[in-house]
Amino acid sequence: MNALPWFQNQFPLFLAPMAGVSDKIFRQLCKEYGADVLTTEFVSAEGIFRRNERTREYLDFDDVERPLGVQLFGADAAHMAEAAKQVVDWVRPDFVDLNFGCPVNKVVCKNGGSALLKDCPTLASVAESVVRAIAPLPTTAKIRIGWDADSVNAVRVAKILEACGISALTVHGRTRAQGYSGAADWNVIGEVAAAVAIPVIGNGDLTSAADVAKRKRETGIAGAMIGRAAMSTPWIFRETKAYLSNSVILDPPTLEERWKVIRRHCELVVRDWGVEEPAIRSMRARLMAYSKAMPEAKRLREKFSQVSTLADVEVIARENISQSTATTILAAA
Ligand SMILES: Cc1cc2nc3c(=O)[nH]c(=O)nc-3n(C[C@H](O)[C@H](O)[C@H](O)COP(=O)(O)O)c2cc1C
Repeated sequence: MNALPWFQNQFPLFLAPMAGVSDKIFRQLCKEYGADVLTTEFVSAEGIFRRNERTREYLDFDDVERPLGVQLFGADAAHMAEAAKQVVDWVRPDFVDLNFGCPVNKVVCKNGGSALLKDCPTLASVAESVVRAIAPLPTTAKIRIGWDADSVNAVRVAKILEACGISALTVHGRTRAQGYSGAADWNVIGEVAAAVAIPVIGNGDLTSAADVAKRKRETGIAGAMIGRAAMSTPWIFRETKAYLSNSVILDPPTLEERWKVIRRHCELVVRDWGVEEPAIRSMRARLMAYSKAMPEAKRLREKFSQVSTLADVEVIARENISQSTATTILAAA
C-alpha cells in the first residue's frame, strides 16, 4: 500500500511548482478551487542555509495549504540532506520535493535541476541522502523525460529514484532541450508509470478536465499536475474534480465571475505587500495570463501592461464586461 495519504482512494490534483507564480496567495486560490496537493516555488539548499527574507517568503505557508511540499534544488548530496533536515525542522512541510527538472541555465550550470538527468550517480546520491535525512517524512521528486531527444531516460531515472526511497514521482513529459516548446510526451509518462510501483504524477500541457480524464484513462498515472493552465483558469481544478468524480461538465465561469477572481487576487496581493502600486505592477504578468481565457485578450494585454492601481484594474474590468455584453447583444440582434 502506498504510504502517501493523498493518494488513498483518490486521484489527487497537484498545482505545479512555478517560480514567481505559485506563491502562497495563488496556492490558496487554487486550493479553494480544489487543488489537492501544493508545492512551494523551488528553493536552493544554499538559500535555506542563508535564511534570507526571500527564502522565508518562499517557505511561508498556512495550514490550510496542507498537504504541502517544499521543493529543493541542488547537486551536492550533503548540502541537500542538511538543507532538507533544516527545512523540516523549520517549517514542517508534509514532504520535500526534489527538483530534477529545472531547465534554467542558472540552475543547470551548477549541475542542479535537469542537469542531474545526465548524471545518474549524483542524482541517486542526492535522492538517497535526502530520503535518509528526513525519514519518515516522505521525499518526492520531479523530473523531465530526459536531457534531450537523444537521451530520453525517464524510465531508468524513475527506477533509480524508486530504489533510493522516493515516495512519488512527477514526470513533466518534455526534455530539458525542449524548454516549454513542443508537446509533452505522454507515452513516456505512461512507460514510467508502468515501470515503477510508486505513484507517478503526470504533468505537461493539461488544459482541461477532459485532458486530465484522457491521460488518466490512457496512462497508469496516479495523479495529475497542472501548471500554466491554472494561471489563466484556476477553476480548472474544480472542473476536473467534477468531471472525474461524476462525469459532470461544469459551465465555465461567467465573465463577471472571472473578473471576481482577478479582483480578489489583486486585492490579496495588495494586502500582502501593504503598498498598492508595486503590488499591482508585480501582478502585470499574472493579469496577462488571466487574459488568455477572456474576450478581447489582445486589448486586455495592452491595458494590463500599464496597470498600477486597483482602480486601474476596476476600470478595465468594467470596460471589458460592458464591451462583451454589447458584443453579445449585437450578435443576438
Ligand atoms: C513560470 C514557470 C515557473 C516554473 N517553476 C518551476 C519550479 O520552480 N519548479 C519546478 O519543478 N517546475 C517549475 N516549472 C515547471 C512546471 O512545474 C511544469 O512542470 C511545467 O509548466 C509543465 O506543466 P504545464 O504544461 O501544466 O504548465 C515552472 C514553469 C513555469 C511556466
